[in-house]
Amino acid sequence: MTHRVSKFIHSVFFEFFGHVIYDGIWVGKDSPIPNIDGIRKDVIDGCREIGVGAMRWPGGCCADHYHWKNGIGPDRPPRLHPIPDPANPVWRMDFGTDEFLRFCELTGAEPVLTVNTATGSPEEFLDWFEYVNAPKETKYGAMRAANGHPEPYNVRYWGIGNTDENVWHIDYNNPVAYAQTYLKFQTVLREDRKRLYFIGLGLSMRHGLPGWTGKALDHITRNQRAMPPDALSVHHYLGGAKQGGQCCGDAVDFTDENYYALLNLLERYQYDIDLHRITIREHAGQNANTKICFDEWGIWHPEAAVANNLNQRQTLRDAIFAALALHIFYRNSDIVEFAMETQLCNLLQSLFETKGEKCIKTPTFHVMKLLKEHLGQNVIPVLPDDKDDDLDVLGSMSEDKKNITLSLVNRHLVNDKRVVLGLPSGEWNVSKADVITADDIHAMNTFDEPEAIRDRPVAVSESFVLDLPPHSIVRICLSLNNL
Ligand code: AHR
Repeated sequence: MTHRVSKFIHSVFFEFFGHVIYDGIWVGKDSPIPNIDGIRKDVIDGCREIGVGAMRWPGGCCADHYHWKNGIGPDRPPRLHPIPDPANPVWRMDFGTDEFLRFCELTGAEPVLTVNTATGSPEEFLDWFEYVNAPKETKYGAMRAANGHPEPYNVRYWGIGNTDENVWHIDYNNPVAYAQTYLKFQTVLREDRKRLYFIGLGLSMRHGLPGWTGKALDHITRNQRAMPPDALSVHHYLGGAKQGGQCCGDAVDFTDENYYALLNLLERYQYDIDLHRITIREHAGQNANTKICFDEWGIWHPEAAVANNLNQRQTLRDAIFAALALHIFYRNSDIVEFAMETQLCNLLQSLFETKGEKCIKTPTFHVMKLLKEHLGQNVIPVLPDDKDDDLDVLGSMSEDKKNITLSLVNRHLVNDKRVVLGLPSGEWNVSKADVITADDIHAMNTFDEPEAIRDRPVAVSESFVLDLPPHSIVRICLSLNNL
């Protein structure tokens, strides 16, 4: 059985921490930094380059403290930022709902708005929904029109809360408490709910509460007419600051053992997916089609501390990690509908690092760009002759069966690998083949050397023989010959 790779696997998440939004995304309309309506042009263009599918905002943790009315219209005094953040001693409101939705329009991404279920109310949610989706004859639709957007935005995807506040800060041991909150927020919309896509909370294995999601789902779907969430949110960071501790080393300072230890942790993403797959089957109701929204994935290195604005450097190791993580999401895309790298700019496993007018693309950006041909294609089986734990291969084929994309990750630190593709002779030709690698696994992109890690063309012989360098990612696009 095959399935299509969801275009939302290349999605992103960002919120009001460090320099993610202010500097990273929003510079303001009067800035000398090239921008469209206040949003950095280099970041807009880059998002289009990776085929960004959806954008999740305003959090994360920030969502559960965000009161949207503070961020619309001409008068937006800053508010108290409740979460320690040296870069933002006050919470600036310049980037609000209209700016976020404009960013989505400019990049072609679907907006995913996360609703404040922790310190907000169902009524506040209804008002927000009315602001973005209702006709201008309504109270908040009229406000939107007065702020320059007469037509409703028609936002379909809504995240109902964020894990941290709902589970950790309010009532971690009581999934029914969250389920009741979820149902209240859903009931606010009653009929509209059926046309919308709601993302409820799941929990990764990192949280150590394996039965939590099933209990929440049981409560949400206890009534036969009740709809389960359309997707469950899963957040999971790997790396020295979270899972893995000392054995992963730091962002740049890591040993060979640390390298393998970090990559080996990725099996926990597969575990999360398997656990949610089973939980949905058993607890979401008979005909449920609930998906997984892996809405925060990535590495959290020890150097990404609050004092450092949660910023971390990325090496080629992060690129290999990103490629293997994306392979997991593509492979499970029958149930993983969204995967959101965290966070878009200047924080954790970002896609862009900015400094004033300068903007560089990270190794993770280049991996997403390299692999984007898989999006929208059907996963096909690739059968290796020999088992090789250091080689990970993923294949996909276009709907019309005229194009194949193969991506191969050689995670071995020392050995290269010769691969011979067993394709019927004369039927296929290589339309492009590119590799991401470097001599040193510690190589990285800096403002002085911004393209040390990027895709470069690689040779594939006419008989489809290909040599994969150590620690490399190769993507090959094949087209069917006109016979
Ligand atoms: O991405 C940083 C934070 O990590 C998010 O706000 C939260 O959801 C997660 O725990």
